[in-house]
Amino acid sequence: MNVDNFRLQLGGKEYVPIIIGGMGVNISTTELALAAEKLGGIGHISDALVTYVCDRIFNTTFVSQKRKKYTQYSSTPDKSAVLFDLEELAKAQKKYIEYTISQKTGNGAIFLNCMEKLTMNSGIETLKIRLCAAMDAGIDGLTLAAGLNLRTLDLIQDHPRFRDVKIGIIISSVRALSIFLKRAIRLNRLPDYIIVEGPLAGGHLGFGPDDWRTFDLKTIFTEVLAFLKKESLNIPVIPAGGIFTGTDALDYLNMGASGVQVATRFAISKEAGLPADVKQHYINAKEEDIVVNMASTTGYPMRMLTSSPTLRYAIKPNCEGLGYLLENGGKCTYIDAYYAALSERKPGQPLAVKEKTCLCTGMANYDCWTCGHTTFRLKETTNLLANGKWQLPKAEDIFRDYQFSVDHSIRLPEPEVT
Ligand SMILES: Cc1cc2nc3c(=O)[nH]c(=O)nc-3n(C[C@H](O)[C@H](O)[C@H](O)COP(=O)(O)O)c2cc1C
Repeated sequence: MNVDNFRLQLGGKEYVPIIIGGMGVNISTTELALAAEKLGGIGHISDALVTYVCDRIFNTTFVSQKRKKYTQYSSTPDKSAVLFDLEELAKAQKKYIEYTISQKTGNGAIFLNCMEKLTMNSGIETLKIRLCAAMDAGIDGLTLAAGLNLRTLDLIQDHPRFRDVKIGIIISSVRALSIFLKRAIRLNRLPDYIIVEGPLAGGHLGFGPDDWRTFDLKTIFTEVLAFLKKESLNIPVIPAGGIFTGTDALDYLNMGASGVQVATRFAISKEAGLPADVKQHYINAKEEDIVVNMASTTGYPMRMLTSSPTLRYAIKPNCEGLGYLLENGGKCTYIDAYYAALSERKPGQPLAVKEKTCLCTGMANYDCWTCGHTTFRLKETTNLLANGKWQLPKAEDIFRDYQFSVDHSIRLPEPEVT
């Protein structure tokens, strides 16, 4: 018995029950999402920093135009006037998603990971535009993540695809789920799938920076299943966080999961967006190199490698061009930390910004090395090459290993000759 004995049923369609989770700022690239889609599974792209991602892929100038427009705010902590142009945002979103969707070749699907905590100095308006433009561009599904907003469904209820696009939520507790469902039931629009993300996941976590060790995915997953049963709700449940082998995945499917969401193993795939040398850092990481900290300006704990260059940033806030994490009114905890560090700096000393990092710049430059807890096990999944580097596996190899492996074995990729 292996994962391939199961299928994920979503709205009358069947998928291989493997979902590659969204990995922000183009770590889960178009190519990575398409690899899952081609094999009958589900791949995510993420719309975090979408204007910046467009500029990289298509040589557009969304970021430089915005920077030019707001350049007079570059030396002041007041960024309240630094706003996104909603039409430009919609244009970027459509361009990126249409580009991805138009390349589908398989029977799988491509979903968008939408990080709701990306408040962009106008949280509700920008969120609405992002979601509506994604549906216009033909996205198969919307996964509502980090910072789940209770009003999200209201925002998009008038869109013609509101009932046809697949909508999923990521939660880490029954409490968050039940709050979201109350509003969804009132709108008669239940989510099509629920991703239960445990404390071992990468990216931002739905747990405290110190208490994540006291939770475990299996317990939360079981509680969610029991809750849905009690409420007579039949919604596919998909666990995520620390599912490292096909056998781990199979265990959850046998317990009643409809599929699994995985990411860490794909972060080092050839198709993932991280630069090749950063992928080597991931594979070389030891368990003690992986921490959960509060450096993210979202206010949520985030897991990352201690060697992440972003943790040593003392750069001027970069909100004029980027500014994705500005709260309404133009606030960001990194701006506060930066200006506090400037005023406390003793003459002749280097600037040191403590506790917070400029996440926009860190993610844009691939300097924030967020990762799942199991990153230290990536060495088990590939070959050490004669040149001392680790081979980067193809997404297809990893996908198929999840799909077909048994007894916790991990099939290594065909060795590459260097
Ligand atoms: C490098 C990396 C970046 C991630 N970025 C995001 C993100 O932007 N948004 C999100 O909702 N989840 C993010 N995640 C979480 C994954 O989508 C996924 O749910 C989780 O990591 C699965 O657990 P695993 O990594 O142990 O397989 C990220 C995970 C990794 C490894």
